[in-house]
Amino acid sequence: MLLTLPDVLTTEEVHQVRSWLKDAPWEPGLGTAGKQAALVKHNEQLPKICDVSNKVRELVLRALNANPIFFSATLPKKIYTPCINRYKGDSNHFGKHIDGSIRMLAHEKRVRTDISCTIFLSDPDTYDGGELCVVDTYGEQSIKLPAGSIVIYPGTSLHEVKPVTRGERLACFFWIESLVRSDEQRRLLYELDMSLLSLRTQFGELPEAIKQTGVYHNLLRMWADT
Ligand code: NI
Repeated sequence: MLLTLPDVLTTEEVHQVRSWLKDAPWEPGLGTAGKQAALVKHNEQLPKICDVSNKVRELVLRALNANPIFFSATLPKKIYTPCINRYKGDSNHFGKHIDGSIRMLAHEKRVRTDISCTIFLSDPDTYDGGELCVVDTYGEQSIKLPAGSIVIYPGTSLHEVKPVTRGERLACFFWIESLVRSDEQRRLLYELDMSLLSLRTQFGELPEAIKQTGVYHNLLRMWADT
């Protein structure tokens, strides 16, 4: 399931993050790339451990934790430390690749990358190019979102970031190991949950909605791996 959600960060939060990133200690973006990806990766990233990274990460995780739609769409079990990247000048693209399947966290903890996430941080009219192109079931999707919006897509997808030919593209990216490993099952749960939300908003607490909520939870119980 490829899904975009608007405004996971408010305008104020985006401005705050961008002001922190102005004087950040950028470095070549090879830190999170495997061997194949490193061959096609031409961007910059923030070091994982630095003041700016810590502040941005805290803000982003707080915003995501407060977002019920994001929770429903991803059903997170573990979230890999959010990282920040920048595409501009000569470091302006990331060719076709599939993200590594397992990421290491501190203390030898592992995260299986079921879902890839990108939060756009630059306003789209301030740079040219920089589209995230993801190959999914229905062909290639080209994604360039307003600052503060997120795209989530299966970690299994072939994707690339097209060259930025003007301005700079800032983004926050991370991976999720989901309670529900199967993309197909996650999609069914998400659609059921969203449909229930809409039913409740329109018609209140119908007995059928209560029953369907039970079905949702019984499916989640059957499929979730905690
Ligand atoms: Ni990638």
